Amino acid sequence: MMNRKPLLAGNWKMNTTVAEAQKLAQSIVARGTPADRDVMLAPPFTSLGAVGKIISGTGILLGAQNVCWQEKGAFTGEISAPMLKDAGCSMVILGHSERRHIFGENDDMVNRRVAGALAHGLIPVLCIGETLDEREADKTFQVLERQLKQGLKDIKIAAAGQLVIAYEPVWAIGTGKTASVEQAQEVHLFVRNFLAKIFEKNIATQIRILYGGSVNPDNVDQLMAQEDVDGALVGGAALQAESFNRIINFNI
Ligand code: PGA
Repeated sequence: MMNRKPLLAGNWKMNTTVAEAQKLAQSIVARGTPADRDVMLAPPFTSLGAVGKIISGTGILLGAQNVCWQEKGAFTGEISAPMLKDAGCSMVILGHSERRHIFGENDDMVNRRVAGALAHGLIPVLCIGETLDEREADKTFQVLERQLKQGLKDIKIAAAGQLVIAYEPVWAIGTGKTASVEQAQEVHLFVRNFLAKIFEKNIATQIRILYGGSVNPDNVDQLMAQEDVDGALVGGAALQAESFNRIINFNI
């Protein structure tokens, strides 16, 4: 992992009422987080404020699950970067496969969201990943390259810490199937090489690339042992403090 600081992120998706989110955040805080790792929680929008208060001063980062490229106005159902900053967010998950495949977000929209987030100092966690059909048709790298090329079109960053990439094979999300460590490492290296083509080399080598898709306490250690896996984006296993805590405390 060279000297990239691991990032373990919990994507709570459309789960938790405010009371449930508070309880989960409190249990995560109570268990403590190692200082040599970054931890991010991405609760639903309605719980950002409440979770933000609980994690304030702990070093745990607050993330949102989407952001609009516009600052304000007639965009029903959207949320802006200034609103997320106001709620205490420093990161935002973008281009998640559920946004792409269930809600029809395309690469252009994702690109605009990435630019909007960066313009306001939010760190995008740009998600990319192939479907099972695409993998079986040997199109994995073609799809990932398109998602990266278009998602990062005209994006400039001055430091590696301003951007995070999450590789989440769609067939591994919420299915209990995980990519093998070899598959994960192969893709992560491909992503890193692609980043080196569009950003300065010293920035590209430091950008964190997370793996996501059925990460759990039993597979996190092997995944994190891969050279180019710098963290995890965790869905299901992030909804229980005990399993998330084990993931944060991965051993390699
Ligand atoms: P999962 O979700 O861990 O439940 O597979 C990961 C994600 O979608 O970010």
